[in-house]
Amino acid sequence: MSENDRMPQPFSFGDFNSARVYDYLLGGKDNREIDRDLGDQMLCRAPELRTLAWFTRSFGLKAVEMAAEAGIRQFLDLGSGIPSSPNVHEVARKIEPSARVVYVDYDPVVHAHCDALLAKPEGITALLGDVRRPGDILDQLKNRNLIDLDEPVAITLISVLHYVMDDEHPAEIIAAFRDQIAPGSYLAITHGSLDSTPEILQVLASTHDTSAQVSFRSTAQTETFFAGFELLEPGVVPVQQWLRPDLPETRMVMLGGIGRKP
Ligand SMILES: C[S@@+](CC[C@H](N)C(=O)[O-])C[C@H]1O[C@@H](n2cnc3c(N)ncnc32)[C@H](O)[C@@H]1O
Repeated sequence: MSENDRMPQPFSFGDFNSARVYDYLLGGKDNREIDRDLGDQMLCRAPELRTLAWFTRSFGLKAVEMAAEAGIRQFLDLGSGIPSSPNVHEVARKIEPSARVVYVDYDPVVHAHCDALLAKPEGITALLGDVRRPGDILDQLKNRNLIDLDEPVAITLISVLHYVMDDEHPAEIIAAFRDQIAPGSYLAITHGSLDSTPEILQVLASTHDTSAQVSFRSTAQTETFFAGFELLEPGVVPVQQWLRPDLPETRMVMLGGIGRKP
């Protein structure tokens, strides 16, 4: 990884932070002025972004529910973010009370929140880990017996992969997880779309060279992340379409897709 690997710095007040901007959009309190300023700039151009944040979260939780209903008992939430109830384990454990959940985030402050707020019951773990280093995360899962990789697992990457730049090889990251997980495993992704309006893409450009820098991608590019998975219907589409047919379109387009490893 390069020297400037855009890692979030817990005490860097001058930088945007993706977890805190998202927390602000979700109505949370764990954010700073600079994060709220970026959130407000986006909200000025597209006030419906708060709603989109909730649609996106609902999509992620729906994917967890679908996987749990299909019999999945282990969940790996990559880029888990600042806790916001209901969280993955709450949804999964409604269906299977013994479900194991591992929350992973590379931001030390997010990790501390997850560890303090989520990882209390047995079978729920918070890991400090960088998805750009899938081998390190997989080693922790195996060495600490957190996830049994011989059994299917549901991996959620909700609004995380667009923080991984092309030269950090997002498709290879997914492939590294895919090759280690059992048949029958699920993969759910949401990803910012290049179909978002130019004004939104322009605001996001101001995050350049911070840990909140994004690389939105096309639908076709997002579909490539599901290589080796069977895409479930309706495929890689705006998250609204996964939830209900009558939800409004948004100027920021967030794609969602769910795949199953055959
Ligand atoms: C927009 S938030 C989404 C949070 C959560 N997935 C949700 O849907 O509510 C993005 C999260 O991904 C995390 N993240 C970004 N890049 C990451 C990386 N390389 N490794 C691990 N976490 C990452 C950020 O710290 C942040 O918490």
